[in-house]
Amino acid sequence: MGHEPIRSLELRGITKRFPGILACDHIDLSVGEHSVRALVGENGAGKTTLMNILMGLYHPDEGHILINGSEVHFRSPNDAFDHGIGMVHQHFMLVQNMTVAENVALGMQSAHKLFRLDLASVKKRILEISERHELPVNPDAMVWQLSVGEQQRVELVKTLCLGARFLILDEPTSALTPQETDELILLLQKMSRELSIVFISHKLNEVKALSDTVSILRRGRIVFEGRTENHSSSDLAALMTGHEVELPRVDSTGIDRSGDRGLLSIRELNVLGDRGNIALDGVSLDLAPGEIVGLAGVSGNGQRSGSIQIDGVEIAGSSAARIIGVGMGYIPEDRNTEGIVPSFSVRENLVLKDVGEKQWSTAGFLKLKAIAANATGLRERFDIRCPSTDTAAGSLSGGNIQKVILARELARGPKALVAVYPTRGLDMGAIEFIHKQLLERRKEGVAILLISEELEEIMNLSDRVAVIYKGKILKVVPGKDATKRSLGLLMAGVVDE
Ligand SMILES: Nc1ncnc2c1ncn2[C@@H]1O[C@H](COP(=O)(O)OP(=O)(O)O)[C@@H](O)[C@H]1O
Ligand SMILES: [Mg+2]
Repeated sequence: MGHEPIRSLELRGITKRFPGILACDHIDLSVGEHSVRALVGENGAGKTTLMNILMGLYHPDEGHILINGSEVHFRSPNDAFDHGIGMVHQHFMLVQNMTVAENVALGMQSAHKLFRLDLASVKKRILEISERHELPVNPDAMVWQLSVGEQQRVELVKTLCLGARFLILDEPTSALTPQETDELILLLQKMSRELSIVFISHKLNEVKALSDTVSILRRGRIVFEGRTENHSSSDLAALMTGHEVELPRVDSTGIDRSGDRGLLSIRELNVLGDRGNIALDGVSLDLAPGEIVGLAGVSGNGQRSGSIQIDGVEIAGSSAARIIGVGMGYIPEDRNTEGIVPSFSVRENLVLKDVGEKQWSTAGFLKLKAIAANATGLRERFDIRCPSTDTAAGSLSGGNIQKVILARELARGPKALVAVYPTRGLDMGAIEFIHKQLLERRKEGVAILLISEELEEIMNLSDRVAVIYKGKILKVVPGKDATKRSLGLLMAGVVDE
């Protein structure tokens, strides 16, 4: 501490190379006092690397950092903290089995090289900060008991307790619910009157709502910089991806619902939410071939009971192999723990659910050539960007992991597909790709149950939208009649006739 406040911060010509990759390519970026600069770009564009350099976590191969016009050298995050720069990382760095106050104390101790700190004064500091910035936190709560939104508030409070006047937020909304997101944006709008903020996101409505200026990174280079208010979201999307992005919409005509039961038929399905609440309470639904039904208002994806049938064959409670055998595809909520085995290669993950089938093995030996050829084909078809199909799937970006899962689930030609939050946290290019894939399968007659918290996604893709309130279907509306407002009201339990 003890440095003069930051009036201007400038990155000049920052370049960073990783083996085989130019992550940052002569990047210039400046942030003024009390302003919000949005840094946007697709996954892998170099946003996090650039900010890690600013925080002293990485050293640039070339370039300089200037504060108030003088060059600084950060050897570690403590040097950045000393100047009042703090970062809330994309993946929270809290110790789960400690209290909020203990986490903050830990951060303060290591940042300011203190030997010990008394917890009472840390708590006092937390309450001051939380009051001043309207960030309610309970210093005595155990971190593991907090929701994602609450943990993020703790990260913010922790960073502010370290004395940050210059905040870097790396994709702070990617794990939040829409409501938590709105709250955070409001909060940051207020904070920006006192602090300077670098806001990383690929959600352009957030960028529009919050930032004064925007810089767009593509493949390690700044491709655009300007005042946010002068540019539309679709202009920014085109600059970000390098092409016009137009999210496709379903054309809900010609669905044959003449069968008395659906191709995908759900009866009395119960799902427990992950925080003990009831996510689905006795829900029944029939999906016709080639129909997408969106479920809005579901949160949590815990234990299930009830009946799910494909073409009259029961699959609830069946083994994974049987579920696959009857033609069910599944895109799970948590792609890293349920969707892939992170330490396995991309090519192994692409046949994960098929192992044991004759196609990939004979007499207990894997057919390695066939597995490799399968992966090469799917990599091309699903535009999976990875150094090689031998790369561990867990090291890919979220969008590419999701493409691996999608490729595996769709390559088998399922009759029905359940997709849970399929585009959560992904960038526009990846979202566009996944939406197109889902609509193509629908055209081929696949029945698709889409569970999503993005109303835009539900409205764009669904033939029908079933709105869940307190675990039950409150109303089913044709997708073409759904609006954000009407769905929002239904999700809050309001039925207007
Ligand atoms: N520690 C690292 N080692 C090797 N490559 C890395 C490392 N960190 C990032 N990269 C690579 O640098 C590029 C930019 O990554 P990143 O800055 O995380 O992008 P973004 O935050 O925009 O999604 C990517 O290709 C990524 O794979
Ligand atoms: Mg990143």
